[in-house]
Amino acid sequence: MLLKERVAIVTGGSQGIGRAISLRLASEGARVTIADVNEDAGGQTTQQIKSAGGEAIFIKVDVTEPGDTDRMVQQTVDTFGSLHILVNNAGITRDRLILRMTDEDWQRVLDVNLKGAFNCIRSAVRVMARARYGRIVNIASIVGITGNPGQANYSASKGGLIALTKTVAREFASRGVTCNAIAPGFIDTAMTRAMPEKAREELIKRIPLERLGTPEDVAEGVLFLASDRASYITGEVLNINGGMFM
Ligand code: NAI
Repeated sequence: MLLKERVAIVTGGSQGIGRAISLRLASEGARVTIADVNEDAGGQTTQQIKSAGGEAIFIKVDVTEPGDTDRMVQQTVDTFGSLHILVNNAGITRDRLILRMTDEDWQRVLDVNLKGAFNCIRSAVRVMARARYGRIVNIASIVGITGNPGQANYSASKGGLIALTKTVAREFASRGVTCNAIAPGFIDTAMTRAMPEKAREELIKRIPLERLGTPEDVAEGVLFLASDRASYITGEVLNINGGMFM
């Protein structure tokens, strides 16, 4: 068990990649808080962890609300006694070419993907710094490095998240807290299933490993960075993209 006695929060843990991360961390012994706006799916994922013999709770959290993220940390510590791991996975897209992108499209994506992660980090890192131990893993994206037409808001939010990762790593290294990012390529979830079939086929041609990634591919990377096997790694970006970008 890589995460025995550890306590983890996974934002956006109800479905998709966050769900796979929650299940994987729990399977290695972590007690997991699933923090998400989606109560129904969150309840199902929590139940799945419990059925497999793990420990999990669901807390309804909108990561854009600092009051919610403070409550998320407080309730986790009240329930499980401590907090060691934070996975900032909650994220949304509102894709449009720049000339058609509204102020609202821009702002909402930045608020959830970047400010949301900041809110969670600010709430959680106090507890971690005090305990002189913490593992923060931010789910960024390949497009936060390469850019992507139609995703000015999303790619800027993910690029910002990578820069935030490095600053958190520098500010809290002396307190035993590491902070790393994962940059997934194209992963088979609701987010990418919304793409037209032809666009998906074209995409797969650009991936050396010739398939989309799975949520489990990303979860393995999170498990590694959240474990003590990665204790000398901080401020790093791990690409999980089938070789699409090297
Ligand atoms: P998804 O849409 O299946 O899941 C996102 C989860 O975040 C949902 O459970 C949703 O309810 C939750 N969420 C949304 N807004 C929230 C808020 N304000 N507060 C709390 N929870 C909120 O998406 P998916 O594909 O699982 O993506 C997860 C993360 O991985 C996102 O950050 C995404 O940007 C990133 N990613 C996804 C890729 C993909 O190909 N699917 C590729 C690269 C990165």
